[in-house]
Order: sequence, then C-alpha cells, then structure tokens
Amino acid sequence: MIITITNIKRVGSDELTSVTIENGVIKGWNLPEDGEVIDGHGGTVAPALIELHAHLREPGQTQKEDLASGLAAAAAGGYGTVVCMPNTSPVIDDPAIVRSLLEKAGTLGQARLKPAAALTRGQQGEALAELTYLKNAGAVMFTDDGRTNENARVLRLGLETAASLGMVVSVHAEDASLRADGVMNEGAVSEALGVPGNPAAAEAARVARDIEIVAGLAAQGRPVRLHVQHLSTARALDLVRDAKKRGLGVTCEVCPHHLTLTDEALRAFDAVYKVAPPLRTQADADHLLEGLRDGSVDCLATDHAPHTRAEKERDLLDAPSGIAYIELAFPLMYTRFGESLGLEKIVELLTAAPARVMGWPEPTLDTGAPADLVVFDLDTQREVKPTEFKSKAKFTPWAGETLKGWPVLTVVDGKVAYRRE
Ligand code: DOR
Repeated sequence: MIITITNIKRVGSDELTSVTIENGVIKGWNLPEDGEVIDGHGGTVAPALIELHAHLREPGQTQKEDLASGLAAAAAGGYGTVVCMPNTSPVIDDPAIVRSLLEKAGTLGQARLKPAAALTRGQQGEALAELTYLKNAGAVMFTDDGRTNENARVLRLGLETAASLGMVVSVHAEDASLRADGVMNEGAVSEALGVPGNPAAAEAARVARDIEIVAGLAAQGRPVRLHVQHLSTARALDLVRDAKKRGLGVTCEVCPHHLTLTDEALRAFDAVYKVAPPLRTQADADHLLEGLRDGSVDCLATDHAPHTRAEKERDLLDAPSGIAYIELAFPLMYTRFGESLGLEKIVELLTAAPARVMGWPEPTLDTGAPADLVVFDLDTQREVKPTEFKSKAKFTPWAGETLKGWPVLTVVDGKVAYRRE
C-alpha cells in the first residue's frame, strides 16, 4: 500500500513538502506522487504521539470505554501508540488477557495498543503478578495504577524483578492513609467548600519513599527503573529533580489537566473536575510547567480516564475520579503553551520523551522509519464539542472552549487511522 501526503510542513520549517509511505515505512520526502494522494492542506507533520497512560477499560468496564472507542479516540488525538492501564475488571494480571487485548486491538486499524500489566496480583499489592509471563505475552510496563503501592517491600521486589526483565515500574504515588477520604486538593478551597481534602504531602511523602527504595537498591549496585505517574505537586517534582541529580533511575510524567486546571474549578461542585491525584494550586501548576522546561518532567501523559455520565453526575464524594480527554491533549497544550513552550518542545514531550522513558527507539520521520505520523492544523480555531468525541465519555472540562492545533490525519503503521472529514 502506497500513500503520498502532500502540502505538509515539517516542524520548524515553512516549506511545503510531501511524504510518501510504502508498506508501513517512510519511503521518502518530496518524491513524485504515488498511490493514494492525501492533501495535507498546509498542516504540520510530526511523529504520531505516544501515550503512556490511558484507561481503555477493557476487559469488563466497556460501559465507560472499550478498545475500539478508546483507540479511535487516541487516533483522533494524534496518537499512534497507547499504553493502557490494567485497573480493569478483571485486572490485567494474566498473560491470556494481555494476548487477547493485543489480538483484538490489532484488528481495529486505530492507534497501536501496548498494554501495561498489573505489578501485583489483582492489583492487591501483596504478591507480585507473573511478570515474566506478562512480559512475554506483550506487556510493556508494570503498574498498579488506580491503586497505590502501600507495601514497600512488595514494590521493591517488583522493581527488582521488572529491572531484571528490562522493564519500568510506574507508580500511582499517593500515601493512602494521608489521602484518606480526600476528594480534592487540601487547601483554602477545600476548606471553604467543606469538602474533605487530599494533602500535597500524600503525594510527596510517597514519592520520597519510593525514591529511597530506588536509592537503596542503587547503592547496592542493583539499579531499577521507577516512573512516577501523573505527578501533581511542586514538592514531589522537587524530589524527582533531586533524584535525577543523584543519578537514580527515576522519571515522571505530568498531565495537561494538572497544568491547565486548579482546585478553584471544584467550586462548581462538578465531579467532571474530580481526578486522582487531584487538581492542585496555581503555584503547583506553574512549578510543573517550569519542570517541563528544565527537563525535570520527562514527558506528558493524559491519564485519559473515562467514566459514564451517570457516574460523573453523582456528587463530589461519590463520583469516581478521572478526566477523559485524549482527543484534546495536543490542541490543549498547543493552545495554552504553544507560545511559552514552543511547538517543538510540546511535540517532543509527546513523542521522543515518552519513548525514552520506556527505552523505546525515539520516533523520527526519516526515510526508512516506521510510518507513524500525525498532521496538525495549527491555525484553525475550533470549539470543543464533546458530542463529537470518539471516546464514550462525551463530556470534558474544556467543553465549549476554543482550541487550535487539531489533528487532521493520523497514520499508524502506514495506514490511515484517523482523518478529519
Ligand atoms: O483519576 C483517576 N482515575 N486516577 C487514577 O489513578 C485512576 C483513574 C481511573 O481509573 O478512573
């Protein structure tokens, strides 16, 4: 199969060019038109985005999302690769589940699935899952995300076992006893609203503990790889920054919702803003943004976490946590931070940066590279209309906002996975 995409610009260039794709690889640039010709209308081409953190809800929670809707939503968001989280029903802790997800995703023609598997059986935190078999089945990461790893000894064993397999352990870093029943950031707003708060210290204390586990192993010549998911507080970021200075195998991701929203949003008493870890203060968001600039934040990830509308319409105390917006992540980042961070940096944080966290080859658009790419329309301002989402979660905090930087074409493995009508 041959496709030529014409009238596109490479990031950092104003020159119009074309790219030809043959049998899943980039055949070359500016070649004579060949095969199916797709007009890029002056859009900007980049490697397809890589998502390290999405909840696709299969198996067992397909009223919220499924592989077909979630991977279509990802492709519409410009993503070519998605790591799905294992906090499903049943939990993805069995090699047979990993295999069946991969088999199904392979038939969909959407973004490529890379499943994460549970670190512990049933994500119960007590006994390690069968990590070797899970890796052999195709799992790319181990995590109990959605739950916290309270048992430090089990986490340490998991880090070591994963490291022996060349794998990263990702952690949802919140101290459960400090978080207690907090449903939003603990601070002036939670006090004013009379809503139970979840203190920043719950995250920082857990990140500190986990870094010390990594440090203790490193000091004995036993290096491991810890990735802190959805890091939300200034203090936790300072701890990660310090761990990096110490040369430890610690990375972290930050989510666009923690950069663009704060706990002030909870004044609406709308559970669309309820997420774990919670929306923090503007000072935290500013600090995280600084971390993106100085490299202490490794990459961006969405933590796309769809729930049904009925669940999210419950009151703040009872509604589940999670914000679903994989279709908006790039336009949101580009609209809000395109000028301050720059297009190249935003693209890097969503492509090469997550690849580095995982130890994958950094994606490029060079001749001979795998044909995973996205074309963005950087100029047209469009309103966010959740009814048009491919995700089953047709609501979002940014509904009605005007954003630019929308993906118009996503190619995965040399095939069109998404094309804006
Ligand atoms: O807000 C969240 N929702 N945070 C998590 O860690 C889990 C996720 C979910 O599964 O809904």
